[in-house]
Amino acid sequence: MDRSPAKFVLLLMAAATWSFFLVAEAGKLQPSCIGHERNALLAFKQGISDDPKDYLGSWRQERQDCCQWAGITCDNVTGHVVKLDLGQRNYLAGQISPSLLSLEHLEYLNLNSTGLCGPDGRIPEFLGSLRNLRHLDLSYSCMYSTNISWLTRLPLLVHLDMSGTNLSLVADWPLVLNKIPSLELLRLPECSLSSANQSLAHLNLTNLQYLDLSNNYFGHPIASSWFWNITSIKYLDLSGTSLYGPFPNALGNMTSLQELYFGPYSSDGDSPTTTANTATMTVDLKNLCDLEDLLLDGSLSSGNITEFIDKLPRCSSNRLQRLRLSRNNMVGILPDRLGNLTNLALLDLSYNNITGARHKQSFLFRNT
Ligand SMILES: *[C@@H]1O[C@H](CO)[C@@H](O)[C@H](O)[C@H]1NC(C)=O
Ligand SMILES: *[C@@H]1O[C@H](CO)[C@@H](O)[C@H](O)[C@H]1NC(C)=O
Ligand SMILES: *[C@@H]1O[C@H](CO)[C@@H](O)[C@H](O)[C@H]1NC(C)=O
Ligand SMILES: *[C@@H]1O[C@H](CO)[C@@H](O)[C@H](O)[C@H]1NC(C)=O
Ligand SMILES: *[C@@H]1O[C@H](CO)[C@@H](O)[C@H](O)[C@H]1NC(C)=O
Ligand SMILES: *[C@@H]1O[C@H](CO)[C@@H](O)[C@H](O)[C@H]1NC(C)=O
Ligand SMILES: *[C@@H]1O[C@H](CO)[C@@H](O)[C@H](O)[C@H]1NC(C)=O
Ligand SMILES: *[C@@H]1O[C@H](CO)[C@@H](O)[C@H](O)[C@H]1NC(C)=O
Ligand SMILES: *[C@@H]1O[C@H](CO)[C@@H](O)[C@H](O)[C@H]1NC(C)=O
Ligand SMILES: *[C@@H]1O[C@H](CO)[C@@H](O)[C@H](O)[C@H]1NC(C)=O
Ligand SMILES: *[C@@H]1O[C@H](CO)[C@@H](O)[C@H](O)[C@H]1NC(C)=O
Repeated sequence: MDRSPAKFVLLLMAAATWSFFLVAEAGKLQPSCIGHERNALLAFKQGISDDPKDYLGSWRQERQDCCQWAGITCDNVTGHVVKLDLGQRNYLAGQISPSLLSLEHLEYLNLNSTGLCGPDGRIPEFLGSLRNLRHLDLSYSCMYSTNISWLTRLPLLVHLDMSGTNLSLVADWPLVLNKIPSLELLRLPECSLSSANQSLAHLNLTNLQYLDLSNNYFGHPIASSWFWNITSIKYLDLSGTSLYGPFPNALGNMTSLQELYFGPYSSDGDSPTTTANTATMTVDLKNLCDLEDLLLDGSLSSGNITEFIDKLPRCSSNRLQRLRLSRNNMVGILPDRLGNLTNLALLDLSYNNITGARHKQSFLFRNT
């Protein structure tokens, strides 16, 4: 007996290591796709009625390795399709085939700016069965939905973009989204949402960092909106929402906030608009040490610049870079403290009734 058990085990280990290398090498070269996933993609292609740029030209049965097809990414090790990205302005149009459901490992689905839709132009609810989705982008796809509760079946969803889809009949949207605690990014601009004043018993969205609700007509008090307690928010866009009244004191607790946009929608960003100024801002912002952009043009009905500047962040390193307060009916005297906002690159105080500073500032200053 020259084969001791120990030697045998060593041999086995060597063999295992060798085959591991083979698999790893093959994986590195290119994962080849899994047969039923390839068939599912070909079935999905059947639903496409328009492909003017021949974006899906590579999606062909004879090109076996679907991981090499346009818009597809496979997992390096398992070969499963994990990413389907058709949102590159390629003008695809047609039906979103339920064959997508065979892509059980799909983590990323981007249909933005396509003309793809479900039955009768709706967002297909079967997307809620893609349980591994982390990233879902349906923005500007011209779809609509009357009930988005299927989203709650996506427990791993981090990034949800439904910009420009018509959700006008989805009254309970905050209650639905509050059941997806994994959400970090939520983009719902131009969704015809009718209000944001739903009351939530308990806030689940403690990971939310990015919230864009711009260009939805809410027309209720700012303070009654549902999101003010979410202290993880870094980016908040409420421009073009017609929210009015005082900003709530809870804003002063949103210590992660970096960017806040509020004001009437204006497509070219700089031209004065005619919307009435109906908000007020007297919140103490001194703890918002990360604040970089505060854009409140054309939105405040009144204000005293001396008091306003006094309530800006007071932190060892002040990050505030852009402060826009034009067309806000503000009065008062520019305080010396302005000189301590050492990172300020843009200050727009135009079209107010502010009576000058004791020390001349070198910032943009158009006070007419
Ligand atoms: C897959 O391989 C590519 C290229 O080697 C690499 O850039 C990528 O990070 C890998 N992805 C995963 C999930 O391992
Ligand atoms: C759409 O998808 C592209 C990537 O394909 C991305 O760069 C873009 O930010 C997405 N969103 C919008 C609204 O265009
Ligand atoms: C939305 O759909 C879910 C599940 O199908 C249903 O339970 C719920 O009542 C619907 N919501 C509304 C507002 O119709
Ligand atoms: C959204 O859908 C509603 C109800 O179907 C409709 O009345 C409204 O005009 C649509 N809005 C847009 C911007 O298409
Ligand atoms: C919070 O999220 C969990 C998990 O999705 C859900 O079961 C619960 O109903 C949510 N709470 C509220 C108040 O929506
Ligand atoms: C929410 O705001 C709408 C106006 O957009 C108003 O009609 C409704 O009464 C408000 N609801 C609550 C609960 O405050
Ligand atoms: C938000 O915070 C306020 C003050 O801390 C609290 O009274 C309120 O219940 C909170 N609302 C939610 C939905 O958590
Ligand atoms: C701000 O946070 C503090 C401490 O968590 C809390 O006591 C206070 O009620 C909060 N204020 C508002 C207006 O939410
Ligand atoms: C602005 O506020 C300062 C400080 O509270 C006050 O002294 C000043 O009178 C106010 N200016 C106007 C025009 O109300
Ligand atoms: C500006 O900062 C300096 C140095 O930190 C401090 O001494 C001074 O009081 C500050 N001025 C104002 C008006 O806050
Ligand atoms: C600007 O303020 C001054 C005094 O603070 C006042 O006399 C004047 O009428 C105001 N002008 C406008 C256009 O509001």
